[in-house]
Amino acid sequence: MQTTLNHTISEVRDSKRILFIGAILLLLMIGVLRPVPTHASTAHIDLNTKGEPVSKYIYGQFIEHLGRCIYGGIGAEMLEDRKFYYPVTGEAPAWTMFTPGMRSWDGEGHPYELLTSSPWMIIGDKKAVSMVTENAYVGEHTPRIALSSGQPGGLLQERLGLVDGKDYTGRIVLAGDPQAAPIEVSLVWGIGASDRDTVVIDKIGKAYVKFPLSFTSKGTTDNGRIEIVGRGRGHFLIGAVSLMPADNILGWRSDTVDLLKQLNSPVYRWPGGNFVSGYDWKDGIGDPDRRPPRKNPAWKGIEHNDVGIHEFMDLCREINAEAYIAVNTGLGGAKAAAEEIEYTNGGTDMPMGKLRARNGHPEPWGVKWWAIGNEMYGDWQLGHMPLEEYVKKHNSVVEAMRKVDPTFKPIAVGEKGRWSIQMLTTCADHMSLISEHLYCQDRDDVIVHTSQIAAEIHRIAEAHRGYRKTLPSLAGKDIRIAQDEWNYWYGANEYGELGTRYFLQDGLGVAIGLHEFIRNSDLFFMANYAQTVNVIGAIKTTKTQAEFETTGLVLKLYRERFGKIPVEVNGDFKPLDIVAALSGDNTILTVAVVNPSEKPQSVALKLDGREFAGRGQKWLLTGPDKWAHNAPGKPRQVDIETSSIADATGRLDAVPLSVTLYWFFLR
Ligand code: AHR
Repeated sequence: MQTTLNHTISEVRDSKRILFIGAILLLLMIGVLRPVPTHASTAHIDLNTKGEPVSKYIYGQFIEHLGRCIYGGIGAEMLEDRKFYYPVTGEAPAWTMFTPGMRSWDGEGHPYELLTSSPWMIIGDKKAVSMVTENAYVGEHTPRIALSSGQPGGLLQERLGLVDGKDYTGRIVLAGDPQAAPIEVSLVWGIGASDRDTVVIDKIGKAYVKFPLSFTSKGTTDNGRIEIVGRGRGHFLIGAVSLMPADNILGWRSDTVDLLKQLNSPVYRWPGGNFVSGYDWKDGIGDPDRRPPRKNPAWKGIEHNDVGIHEFMDLCREINAEAYIAVNTGLGGAKAAAEEIEYTNGGTDMPMGKLRARNGHPEPWGVKWWAIGNEMYGDWQLGHMPLEEYVKKHNSVVEAMRKVDPTFKPIAVGEKGRWSIQMLTTCADHMSLISEHLYCQDRDDVIVHTSQIAAEIHRIAEAHRGYRKTLPSLAGKDIRIAQDEWNYWYGANEYGELGTRYFLQDGLGVAIGLHEFIRNSDLFFMANYAQTVNVIGAIKTTKTQAEFETTGLVLKLYRERFGKIPVEVNGDFKPLDIVAALSGDNTILTVAVVNPSEKPQSVALKLDGREFAGRGQKWLLTGPDKWAHNAPGKPRQVDIETSSIADATGRLDAVPLSVTLYWFFLR
């Protein structure tokens, strides 16, 4: 009986087991269960075969006057059109959904909100507001508000992001009839009569005067407003207004600056990009309230000129980065470029150095890295010209700049193929580095998607290796590459002009891209991730919050943790992408493993030349699926998790869609 029962039980067990195995196989076949890796491939790390040290500059960044990068991203100014580029008409709406062209650099047809007329609304009689050109404070015209009927009148602007308990600071430039006073400037956070904080200016006169503003919001809103109201008679003029959170850092947003500090990039390229080819740097110096607002020469928005060389240098100092400034070789030329470097690096015995001192900075900044133009090979570039002419222009610009500062490092515009070959042939004595740019779009297959950037970096490296072998102009020279724009660029413009988002799949692709720079550390001296804030950026902001994209987290992780001296990694461990490097003092081996697949992977590490000491540390970046992403003010879908390794065995398990960076202490 017992035997039969046992037999029956085991039969039942067997059939259950068969059913269970069948079910598992079925689940595996339909992809419900992810297989646990059983077979580990091997990565051989040869600690005796070392590459050139990884240049710290490959972790560079790029910021451009475009969309919501400088204004509405890093800059703390809360008001739109604070210097009245657009005439105030009282007509709404000021913001419209703009549908760009289909070209990737237009925004691939993905609509975004754009300010297309004045955001200032009129309080009181619309006809009482006119734009005067005579005695305009800044730019082409200044709003004049007539109070002849004795009724209050003025301007207001909505859509301000205000936070309960937060202090705000600002200034207003006013002129007008003394009897137009008092002028009341209010910050308003609600509809109740007491939902406002008001500064009263009792006295104004014919000449423009700046008055300080200071407020505290007692409410949180996305639609706060500022009101400027005259309560007297006659008329008054509003020259310029500014409003910023009081915790701004020299005019920059403290929350964004905090993330930039964490991003910890050693070098920032500025001010463009396409923007620079139409930029007059002299528009960006002197009193910011008097700098003219203009149409952005290359992009859709307004260039407020609130940020110029001084502000950029302040930002670099604040976030501990070196400056890399681009000069205009499109619509600009040698004279303006020479004056710009004289303004930046010249002594106060030079005219431009003297001007810089008058503008508040007697010490020269000593900027070393200068981009001589941007993408001059493209017909989209302002001032684009045939290559045969451009090579001459490049050389004349560099010569003029060298006369001012013989030590500066010019970085020439390159594009692999005909353009780079000609530049390297004709201008090799006039460059320290040559630039290349790359952008990739979305691909359906995640492995293909994540491999694109690295594949293009590889092609660029191979092309330049070829030039080094074949171009006589390069004999005895070591002109390395500044990959001063590289990124993905696709999808909806959620954060304004070119405000595309970045998903886990892009973070993984950026990590593999970094691996390729590291594998070619003998060639890539600089790389500037394009870009930084909102505009195809590694950081995204709302009016009151800022957050890292997946790509930003990856850049931050490698900058902080990846080693200095690359060592050779061999083996067939596809689909994993693995690089390794020793720390500068040879005590730590960093191994970075990207698993771009949707399956867990496993790999055994074999070290040649050293042994694991046992302890280690690991940083894991992953998320639930390839579309996982972060957004300001929302819980992170993708983040970095840190853990320690008690006993390094040399076996690495890489969870699906992940970057893992290991530190192994060595014996
Ligand atoms: O990064 C955005 C734009 O892309 C830059 O202005 C230009 O250089 C490139 O085409």
